Amino acid sequence: TFTPRIFSGIQPSGGMTLGNYLGALKRFAELQDRGQETVYCVVDLHAITVWQDPERLTHQTREIAAAFLASGIDPKRSILFNQSQVSAHAELAWIFNCVARIGWMYRMTQFKDKAGKNAENSSLGLLAYPSLMAADILAYRATHVPVGEDQKQHLELTRDIAIKFNHDYGVNFFPVTEPLIEGAATRVMSLRDGTKKMSKSDPSDQSRINLTDDADAIAQKIRKAKTDPEPLPDTLDGLKDRPEARNLVNIYAGLAGVAPEAVVAEFAGAQFGTFKPRLAELAVEKLAPITAEMNRLMQDPGEIDRILGDGADRADAIARPVLEDVYRITGM
Ligand code: ADP
Ligand code: NA
Repeated sequence: TFTPRIFSGIQPSGGMTLGNYLGALKRFAELQDRGQETVYCVVDLHAITVWQDPERLTHQTREIAAAFLASGIDPKRSILFNQSQVSAHAELAWIFNCVARIGWMYRMTQFKDKAGKNAENSSLGLLAYPSLMAADILAYRATHVPVGEDQKQHLELTRDIAIKFNHDYGVNFFPVTEPLIEGAATRVMSLRDGTKKMSKSDPSDQSRINLTDDADAIAQKIRKAKTDPEPLPDTLDGLKDRPEARNLVNIYAGLAGVAPEAVVAEFAGAQFGTFKPRLAELAVEKLAPITAEMNRLMQDPGEIDRILGDGADRADAIARPVLEDVYRITGM
C-alpha cells in the first residue's frame, strides 16, 4: 500500500482560464484544505512541446504560480514548484519512454488534436508528452491526481506505464494512480461553441474567461456567450441537447459550489436575459479577488521565484530518492 499523496500540474502555455480554475485550481485548494499531502507544479517542460517564446515562458511561469497562490494554494501546506527545476521529472520520463510503446502515444486524442494534419512535423516531445506526465506523477509515487476530463486518457496511460514498469521489473514500486475528476465543471466549454472545451490555446479570446480579465470583460463575454432562444428548463434533462445552455449552468454551479440540479431548480423558466447577468455577477464576485491577488503577486517576481525555489528543494527531497530506487531497480 502507498501513502496517499496528490499531484497535479498546469502548463505555462498561456493565461489561465475559468476552465483551469474550476476544473483544476479550485479543486487543488480544496484538497489542500482537507489536509491531504499536495504537490503542485507549473509544468514548463510540457509547455515547450509546442513553441514558446522564451521571455513569455518565464513571465507565464510566474503568472501560473501567482494563479496557484491567488487561488488559495499555501506554499507552507502544499509543495508548489516549477517542473524544470527538479531534474527527476526529465530523468524518469526517459526511463518511461523506454517502458511505454509508441502505439500508446499515437492513440492519444490530445496528440491527434494538437498535431493536426501535420503530425510528422510536430515535436517528438508532443508525442511523448504523456510519458513526461507519468514521470511528473510517479516521481512522487502520487496516488491521486485531480484533473479536468480532458486529461482522463493521459491518466490511463500513466496507469499503464506504472503497471508495465512494475511487471517488467517484477516489483510493486509504483502505485496505479487514481484520477480525481469531480464536481460540476470538470469540462468547461468554449463560450462561442458548446462542443469545444474552453482553452487557453483557443485563438479566440471571446471563447474564454481569463483569470486576468476585469469585471467589464467578464460581463461582456458572458453577455455575448452563444445560447439558444429557449428559457431555462426545470430539470437537467431539459438541457440534454442544449450544450451552450448546459455549459453556463455548469459554470454557475462550479462557481457557486452547488450541484447543477440546484441551479436549474433556482432559475427554472428564466430567460438568458435574466440568467446571464446573474452569472456575470457571480463570476466577478468569485474571480475579482483572485485577479487582484495575482496582480499584487506579479508586482514582486523575486518573491514568486523564491517560493518556487523553496518548493523545488522540497519536491527534489521526495523525487530524488524515488529516482535512486528506480536506477537501482533497472540496474543503472
Ligand atoms: P489547457 O488545457 O488550458 O492548455 P492544461 O493542459 O495546462 O491547460 O490543463 C491544466 C488543468 O486544467 C488540467 O487539469 C486540465 O484538465 C484542466 N482544464 C483545462 N481546461 C479545462 C476545461 N475547459 N474545463 C475543466 N478543466 C480544464
Ligand atoms: Na489540458
